[in-house]
Amino acid sequence: MLWGDDYMPCVQGKTNVVCIIGDPIRHSLSPIIQNAAFTADHLDYIYVPFAVTPENLAQAVSGLKALGVCGFNVTIPHKTTIIPFLDRLDESAEYAGAVNTVKLCGNLLIGYNTDGDGLVDSLQTDLNFSPGTEPVLVVGAGGAARGAIAALCRAGATNIHISNRTIEKANAIKQDMNIRYPGTHIDATTLNQVNKELLSTISLLLNTTSLGMHGERIDYINLAHMPEHAKVYDMVYSCAATPLVKESSAVGLQSVNGLGMLVAQGERAFEIWTGQKPSEGVMRRALNHL
Ligand code: ATR
Repeated sequence: MLWGDDYMPCVQGKTNVVCIIGDPIRHSLSPIIQNAAFTADHLDYIYVPFAVTPENLAQAVSGLKALGVCGFNVTIPHKTTIIPFLDRLDESAEYAGAVNTVKLCGNLLIGYNTDGDGLVDSLQTDLNFSPGTEPVLVVGAGGAARGAIAALCRAGATNIHISNRTIEKANAIKQDMNIRYPGTHIDATTLNQVNKELLSTISLLLNTTSLGMHGERIDYINLAHMPEHAKVYDMVYSCAATPLVKESSAVGLQSVNGLGMLVAQGERAFEIWTGQKPSEGVMRRALNHL
């Protein structure tokens, strides 16, 4: 996409189209960060949002393929259900069991997952935390947790404890990851089993649930029992100081919300579509202007 002197986008016949499909989609920040990066890097691309309901997913995907879009992002509730409509999965999506980025290569739709690696990038950038031998407590065992845990394992985490309200889901992830990543020791418990003894061993607490999006606290987790050096990452980013971030600060623990992950997954998706990294910091700065 070219930009005229009056900063109006000039979409041309050869402009590459990228989009995001989800339901709801109005709240999505991806169009803002992606278009900011395309503009900053003078790339002839445009990114647009489409609200697609689950009933229309199959038609929407074949429509995007027929239209020849360059690629697209996939968000709630389609990250798992889109898989049967794709032609091939990259390892990142296969192991996460979810897709958030698709690239159209010739006539093939290839699914990727940049959420997990985006999280790992953000842990490094925003918390100076590299997965390794330090124990990680993952709260939640849904799709977001699965992607995060697969990426943590791939990045070298050797000791992960999953805690979820529903133990069966935590056990299912534990079983799958044990097969794929035998080098990582994984435990699974219910949330109400997270006691002082466990918390005192944890170096990183990662919230993968939606708790906090509407101001909810996470029950059973007493952050005061975590060691002083421990860090807290809240994948929720609905406000700068989520309840978990506020509570962490109150007990002196370094913590961040999930905006860094949003940016990092977007940077990786941008690279998949365009073949180049976006200018450093441009997506983050676009969010700072909101
Ligand atoms: P996502 O794909 O975003 O991870 P999901 O697969 O629906 O969404 O998973 C939501 C996660 O948040 C689950 O771990 C869920 O716990 P359950 O498996 O017990 O349902 C967790 N979650 C949502 N609401 C919760 C609540 N009120 N208390 C505790 N956990 C909650």
